[in-house]
Amino acid sequence: MHRPLSSLPQKSPDAAASMIYLIVALLLLLVPSVLRAEALNQSCAGTGQPWSDARFGSVKAVYLDNYCGYCHSFSVVESRGMFGPNHDAAAAVAARYIDDPGYTGGAAGAQEYLAESIAQPTVYMTPGYAATTHQMPAYEGLLTEAQISELAAFLTAYGDC
Ligand code: HEC
Repeated sequence: MHRPLSSLPQKSPDAAASMIYLIVALLLLLVPSVLRAEALNQSCAGTGQPWSDARFGSVKAVYLDNYCGYCHSFSVVESRGMFGPNHDAAAAVAARYIDDPGYTGGAAGAQEYLAESIAQPTVYMTPGYAATTHQMPAYEGLLTEAQISELAAFLTAYGDC
């Protein structure tokens, strides 16, 4: 059976249209993250305490060498982990967690809470992460107390966006 060419399904314009939809969808996805990145930079400007290069470099090495960045995103060290909470706001949200009636740990302030979370992450599970399949290891015993408290100070200084 012979049908005129024009009655056949027009494949390529459809394909072009789906490609355009795809591109528009991707752009829509990207815009909020770009805006958020800018907002982060703005709200971070001037906050936190600028550390010396030596202190910053050595805590950054501890952070990266112990796979923190594998699970956590933290702008100052350019880590992009997605299994745990974002560290750009670690100190900012810590105070809220301590006030949670479900918090049974012993921390009196944000920095103590962060140190406690690194040493024994299950003392208080960050809301939304209780069912994670990428459970954070307890770093008590893996890192020295000094390293844990330096990491907590680092998150406090640079994680208050
Ligand atoms: C295998 C993945 C993984 C690794 C590696 C990891 N974490 Fe986590 N981390 C998580 C998850 C998931 C949570 C949230 C659940 C919980 O509270 O334990 C979390 C929670 C935290 C919290 C509490 C944050 C909050 O908002 O309550 C801190 C602080 C933290 N991690 C710091 C670190 C540091 C520092 C390292 C490296 C020494 C590290 N993590 C390594 C997965 C990880």
